[in-house]
Amino acid sequence: MTNESNQARRDFLKTSGLLTGSALLGSLPFQAIATAKPGYHFSVNDTIKVALIGCGGRGTGAAQQALNTKQNVKIVAMADAYRDRLDDSYKALTERGLKAADGTPKVDVPEDHKFVGFDAYKQAMALADVVILATPPGFRPSHFEEAVRQNKQIFMEKPVATDAPGIRRVLAAAEEAKKKKLNVVVGLQRRYQPSYREMIKRIHDGALGDIVGGQVYWISGGVWQKPRKPNQTEMDYQMRNWYYFNWLCGDHINEQHVHNIDVANWVKNSYPVSCQGTGGRQVRTGKDYGEIFDHHIVDYVYADGTTINSQCRHYEGTYSRVDEMFLGTKGKVEGMEKKSSALLGYNGQPIYTHNAKTDGNPYQIEHDELFEAIAKGEYKFADAERVAKSTMTAIMGRMATYSGKVVKWDEALNSQIDLFPATLAWDAMPKSLPDANRLYAIAVPGKTVTV
Ligand SMILES: NC(=O)c1ccc[n+]([C@@H]2O[C@H](COP(=O)([O-])OP(=O)(O)OC[C@H]3O[C@@H](n4cnc5c(N)ncnc54)[C@H](O)[C@@H]3O)[C@@H](O)[C@H]2O)c1
Repeated sequence: MTNESNQARRDFLKTSGLLTGSALLGSLPFQAIATAKPGYHFSVNDTIKVALIGCGGRGTGAAQQALNTKQNVKIVAMADAYRDRLDDSYKALTERGLKAADGTPKVDVPEDHKFVGFDAYKQAMALADVVILATPPGFRPSHFEEAVRQNKQIFMEKPVATDAPGIRRVLAAAEEAKKKKLNVVVGLQRRYQPSYREMIKRIHDGALGDIVGGQVYWISGGVWQKPRKPNQTEMDYQMRNWYYFNWLCGDHINEQHVHNIDVANWVKNSYPVSCQGTGGRQVRTGKDYGEIFDHHIVDYVYADGTTINSQCRHYEGTYSRVDEMFLGTKGKVEGMEKKSSALLGYNGQPIYTHNAKTDGNPYQIEHDELFEAIAKGEYKFADAERVAKSTMTAIMGRMATYSGKVVKWDEALNSQIDLFPATLAWDAMPKSLPDANRLYAIAVPGKTVTV
């Protein structure tokens, strides 16, 4: 390590030290933190300290992937809204008994580095160099802002917001992250999947000619639901069932289908200028399913006049398909995630075949590339802006299916409709509340205003 890098690391640690007093958090002026050096590491022998924010299924998985990288990574802090979720995750992470080269545990989270509640994220972040943000997406704008404010390297899950005000916050923080040269990787893992990377590079080089149409799908059986408990507050019920509430999830067109919508934007190398669509609740009706639809079909129109159709639905016991298909003037492609897939000419001859049999796991590649960059002190990843725009594309689709109107990009992005509760507390009220029969208001196309 050079003297200069030693000094930079000492500066960084000094700054982190400043931040560990949780009482100071939030009261520290932005400027004081903004002038700190980014937390780059300069040798693989350095420990890269990670805080996990949102210790559910994906957060725990992402933490495992961070630990699996070649770098000397340690999980040093954890934060969750709920103690039971944090404990389950800690158990899963420590089960493997992973040790660093010096024999110390790679999951090193003492009791006073475990934080619970709505503000827990700030304290956990302050203890780390890298943060993993894996709560429900409604919290992503505020958590991402805080991570940038505290100069952290960031892995965050998709989608990155649930409404337009949230997207604007993420776009602003993404700018700030670029200025500070903070690496930001976002978990749209197809962007890190070799088959997609190779095939879309060739599509951009003209292998299929101009892309004139396409279809993207997430049609599947749906997800978990947690029964309401006696005496549960409304906030607790919605938090435990976050999937079914728009302020937390943004509907499944946002939560899941953003993956495929992002592939459409990637292939088109742009974002749609408008969309219209249809959707509703056909099979997943009733009081256990909050306010989201169970199907959405959206036509996304791009500036060159081409349309990509998007289809997502949650119907148990029906045909499933999660992939994308694109038609070019010279050929077509579908199933880019398959073990072997091809760009095909209309004569049936392959233009390019990708054999993915030895390709790595894209979830792991995201972390391998991020932690390698951090260890080398490189600034390589700035995913937040494009994921914010793909998340906006999904939200715009929801605006179209809920309202039944044509929605234009600019009006969608500038929408002032803010879904987030005025106050975050276990006894505070979210904006969507059930009626006396415990049913939530469902959007009615033609009547519901979404922009
Ligand atoms: N890239 C992928 O393929 C992929 C796969 C699954 C999930 N995800 C994304 O990961 C995120 C989490 O999904 P999941 O399946 O792990 O959900 P989950 O419910 O299993 O985990 C979410 C966790 O966040 C916690 N949490 C909620 N609000 C919090 C807050 N304000 N502060 C701290 N913790 C809070 C919850 O208690 C829970 O433990 C979502 O954005 C989801 O879309 C991505």
